[in-house]
This record gives sequence, C-alpha cells and structure tokens, in this order.
Amino acid sequence: MAKPKKGKVLEHLIQAYTMECETILNYLANSVMLDGVRAEEIKSSLAADVAEELTHATELAKRIKQVGGRVPGSLSLDFGQKVLQPPKDTTDVTGVIKGVIAAEQAAIDNYKKCIKACEQEDDYVSQDLCIRTLADEEGHLIQFKGFLKEYEKR
Ligand SMILES: [Fe+2]
Ligand SMILES: [Fe+2]
Repeated sequence: MAKPKKGKVLEHLIQAYTMECETILNYLANSVMLDGVRAEEIKSSLAADVAEELTHATELAKRIKQVGGRVPGSLSLDFGQKVLQPPKDTTDVTGVIKGVIAAEQAAIDNYKKCIKACEQEDDYVSQDLCIRTLADEEGHLIQFKGFLKEYEKR
C-alpha cells in the first residue's frame, strides 16, 4: 500500500504555525500598549498567553520538520490578523478582548480542519498535537468570552 501523502496536513500545520506567530506578536503588542485600570487584568493575561502560544508555535515547527516540510521564515509568513491590531484608543480593552476571541476562534477552526485532515492521511502524531493545542485554545476562548461578559456590562 502506498504511503499516505502529507499534503493537507502539512498545509494546515504551516497555517497554524503562521497564526500562532502572528498571535504572539499581537498579544505582545496589546499586553504592553493597553492603558488604564481596567486593562491590567487583560494585559497580564495576554502576557501569559504569549508564552503559551510560543510553545504551540515551537511544537508545530518541530512537527512541520518531522513530516518533511519547511518551517517558514518571517518573509514567507502570510499575516492578516486585522482584528488584533493594537487599537488607536489604548483604553479600548473591550475591542482587544473581541479581537482575542476572533483570533482564538480562527485558530480553533484551523485545528479542527487539521484534525480531520490527519484522519485522511493517517497522521496520528500531528492529530494528537492538534487536539492538545485545540484544548488550550478552547480554554483561552472561554476565558476571554468570560472577560467580555464583564467588560460589556461596565
Ligand atoms: Fe496557540
Ligand atoms: Fe490561544
């Protein structure tokens, strides 16, 4: 039997790596740029997430190499996370929370696609990585949805 080709899975892994890298940059920027008393909790939460997203990116990079792909350098990364650009109004904490929710949802959607593609390609190691990472992203999503509930009240 022919070995299953690593086509779609590799594409999704590279997409996931790209999204993790962009999220790291934007969480970092927002964790520094936001101002005000209401921003403090969100800033420290984002700063902690930078480390977690970096772990995700690192694990993805290792897996991309293992399946015979190339880890892209900065000039090959296709960024487009409009929702998470640091806002002009640096007290717009709610806007950043909404951006985080959108970014986490986009990551979740990509991991789910990758998990399905892994099934087609018999790639259970990539699938395991994506499932574990998906669990982290779902945790982030729930946390920021909770923040939004509170921040929209004030
Ligand atoms: Fe992540
Ligand atoms: Fe996340």
